[in-house]
Amino acid sequence: MSQTEHLITEAKKVLRDNDLGGYTVPTKGLYPFQWNWDAGITALGWLYIDERRAWTEFEMLFEGQWKNGMVPHVVFHQDSDDYFPGPDQWGVKGTPSTTSISQPPLLSTMIRIIYEQSMDKELAKTKLNELLPKLIQYHEWWYRERDPESTGLVSSYHPWESGMDNSPAWDDVLARVPQVQRSYQRRDLNHVDSDQRPLKEQYDRYIYLVDFFRDNEFDYQKIYDNCPFHIKDISLNAVLQRGTKDIIYLNTLVSESYDLEGLEKASSKADAALNALWDQDKRVFLNKDNALNKSIGIRTSGGFMPLYSHSATVEQAKMMADEVKKWLVLGPKGLASTHPLEESFDSKRYWRGPSWLHINWMIADGLKHYGHDDVAEELRLASRSIIDQSGYWEYFDPITGEGCGGSDFSWTAAIALHWLL
Ligand code: GLC
Repeated sequence: MSQTEHLITEAKKVLRDNDLGGYTVPTKGLYPFQWNWDAGITALGWLYIDERRAWTEFEMLFEGQWKNGMVPHVVFHQDSDDYFPGPDQWGVKGTPSTTSISQPPLLSTMIRIIYEQSMDKELAKTKLNELLPKLIQYHEWWYRERDPESTGLVSSYHPWESGMDNSPAWDDVLARVPQVQRSYQRRDLNHVDSDQRPLKEQYDRYIYLVDFFRDNEFDYQKIYDNCPFHIKDISLNAVLQRGTKDIIYLNTLVSESYDLEGLEKASSKADAALNALWDQDKRVFLNKDNALNKSIGIRTSGGFMPLYSHSATVEQAKMMADEVKKWLVLGPKGLASTHPLEESFDSKRYWRGPSWLHINWMIADGLKHYGHDDVAEELRLASRSIIDQSGYWEYFDPITGEGCGGSDFSWTAAIALHWLL
């Protein structure tokens, strides 16, 4: 068996082993439920195993969709002692139980890819017709509740909403959040070494915010006005913008199309609003601290995501392509999540340095859109070399390629099937 065949077999095994009957856990133990953006990426992998199963991944996630359209960051299809904060902590009623925040909305883009690449077109049509109204409600929710003043950029209220949970970009904003006073017991440290996970001071604040949303009865205006953690996340906004553009396209394919005036309006503002977060000296886009109304100087891989949403200008794209090459010299094993020369860079701790394959893929996809196929290919080869070396870990040390976090990880296996193999 060739190395590629071996990796394909292993990747399929990871997805099958993590399948809990219609939804896939990111990894056993550490993350025992269904996560929002993991589900989207993981469905891409299922496409190469069983198309029907790929669609089921979305259907199960949407079982957790709220009446207001929000698709939660975690759907707790069944309880588990392995995770904190579990379903009893968020104060959300309904079945299945869910968290009260969301995650980068890449579902519509993944659905577009699966629709276009699937073999069973009849099935794909049926599923698209069923899923599109739910996607529309989800995106309408983002603009209505997370950008009530129509600035062109949606707000997020928890580091976990960014999906880049422990990024040093959030440190200063998070430091202004009070530490929760009640005692609680973390479960993540039962599964992963503590030097690869967030610190207690950070966890205390994560939990404070969980309580804050519940105590404010999830009232979006109150939370918008008062949440002590309030950011404009460049990566989340780029994912939203790409996703909305894909919804507008998908709407032309369904039997009865929807009135998308609201989404079109919001999307037409977003490219310019994203563009205002460009930093000409750092040659990357920056996140914004909403309370201080100023950008956050730390360079993260999220700052390249306007490539993926096609929101960058041609000049910016060229500068970012050069920058990606430079980052790869400092950390050749995929794109570091934090620039390796930032003081806060930490090659093994979660989002403070490690490279993540799905982020590499999204940025490579954006680079290709702008004609930088050579840099996209460099990123692909770097990513391939990591799985050759280490297999399917949650994330990787960008300097040594060592696998970190959870093992047998679903989105890593899925992206390998879709992009690397
Ligand atoms: C971590 C990651 C987040 C991911 C989740 C499940 O919390 O930071 O992006 O969705 O794990 O894999």
